[in-house]
Amino acid sequence: MEQLEYVRELAGEGVDTWNSVMLLYSSAIKEISTKMEILSDEFQHTHQYNPIEYVKTRVKKPDSIIKKLKRYGYEESIENMVAYCNDIAGLRIVCSFTSDIYRMANMIGRQSDITVISVKDYIRNPKESGYKSYHMLVTIPIFLSDKVVDTKIEIQIRTIAMDFWASLEHKIYYKFEGNAPEYISRDLRECSGIVAMLDAKMLSLNEAIMATKAEQGSESKGSPEQIKILKRSGEMGI
Ligand code: GTP
Ligand code: MG
Repeated sequence: MEQLEYVRELAGEGVDTWNSVMLLYSSAIKEISTKMEILSDEFQHTHQYNPIEYVKTRVKKPDSIIKKLKRYGYEESIENMVAYCNDIAGLRIVCSFTSDIYRMANMIGRQSDITVISVKDYIRNPKESGYKSYHMLVTIPIFLSDKVVDTKIEIQIRTIAMDFWASLEHKIYYKFEGNAPEYISRDLRECSGIVAMLDAKMLSLNEAIMATKAEQGSESKGSPEQIKILKRSGEMGI
């Protein structure tokens, strides 16, 4: 059943709706965390490589939920929070390379118990601020004693460099309450460009390393593909 339906049912029964709803979100975090752990272990096992550097989770604090509802112009209610606040349960996956982001997103999207509600690709289409990240809003089923409730989670997938940028930008945003001096915003946008270059260069370097590894044991030094990759990484020129 949908979360909103569940909330309405609880309200009708006079049950403690807040704690029941928050229990759904914390359960969703547990479920998705286990899924990430399994993917990471399996990847390590089959490819001797782990696309996930680290994972962070959080359940949004009540004051932040209320602030967000106000910002959107909604009355403070549990129904509104479930309907309009999509990031109460949040999962952030930090990967080494941009290619890993899309790999992770595909793996998540293909899981049959996960429903992808929406996707925002701020890597292909960065925000005005320079923010880059891949966002997915998904639901996963939470099995309660007598019902199954599809619970929303916001997933953010980014590289280490994008994460570094976002955390600094976030600090600055709060420090200046959203009104940072123009030169700071400009520098941040410039840094976002540098992040993109760094990510592209690291990716091509990694591809070159992988190609070299694949060549190991054979006599040939530098296949045409390997040379092409090395050339490409040289062209990025930071
Ligand atoms: P929010 O109401 O802020 O949640 O935005 P939204 O519902 O339009 O969703 P969006 O996908 O744009 O952003 C969701 C989350 O991404 C935010 O809560 C932040 O964690 C992160 N985010 C979005 N834009 C920025 C940005 O410019 N800088 C930083 N540091 N984080 C951002
Ligand atoms: Mg948010």
